[in-house]
Amino acid sequence: MHICKVKNYQELSRKAANIIAAQVILKPDSVLGLATGSSPVGTYEQLVQMYENGDLDFSQVTTVNLDEYKGLAGTDPQSYRYFMNSNLFHKINIPHDRTFVPDGTEADSSAACAEYDRKLQETGPADIQILGLGHDGHIGFNEPADHFEVSTHCVDLTEQTIQANKRFFEKEEDVPRQAYTMGIGTIMNSRKILVVVSGKDKASILKSVIEGPVTPHVPGSILQFHQDCTIIADEDALSEINL
Ligand code: GLP
Repeated sequence: MHICKVKNYQELSRKAANIIAAQVILKPDSVLGLATGSSPVGTYEQLVQMYENGDLDFSQVTTVNLDEYKGLAGTDPQSYRYFMNSNLFHKINIPHDRTFVPDGTEADSSAACAEYDRKLQETGPADIQILGLGHDGHIGFNEPADHFEVSTHCVDLTEQTIQANKRFFEKEEDVPRQAYTMGIGTIMNSRKILVVVSGKDKASILKSVIEGPVTPHVPGSILQFHQDCTIIADEDALSEINL
């Protein structure tokens, strides 16, 4: 794991965007693995700015997103499809039909997951996968469990995740209890991985991810085994680690 320590969220976002920009410049038809949550928002803002400045062209890019809430349509402002459209896709020149997010409206979980795996098979592995880190160590929506799930699956969100994500919803009851997520096997198949972590509230879980044993109880710890994984984290998030 390569750890890149930065001062604050703004520096984190600029660094992460520069790495993604370099990927797209070097390989215009890259497959970008994208994440939602507050951690990558600044990175997407920077990418939009680079696009507006004429420094980036997304016309040949394909994107695959990590996850989606089960039961939410892409038109729902809380859905991850909506998040991606409004934070990135609608602000750059990526063809909409080259952006993939699991279909939250498919009520049949096995059908939804099989269909997403079929798409991921078609796009091939992400050239670079961006990840945030959940407070319980989840990546995508791979929650702590007794084993690592390889491919796309339906998960029951943990109480901690529901609590953490309720800030985006009007009422706690509105937070979906299940989600479809890319599996750990698919994430680990990405050629490069870029994890963005910010804030004191992530310090203890980030320490476990970097220094703890590799265990499905801390899903992000599997990244210790990835050959090309960079973690960009601010001083607060790295405050429990001596570098
Ligand atoms: C969500 C997403 C994850 C994300 C995580 C952290 O539950 N499914 O992909 O990484 O939360 O979110 P945040 O960046 O807002 O802390």
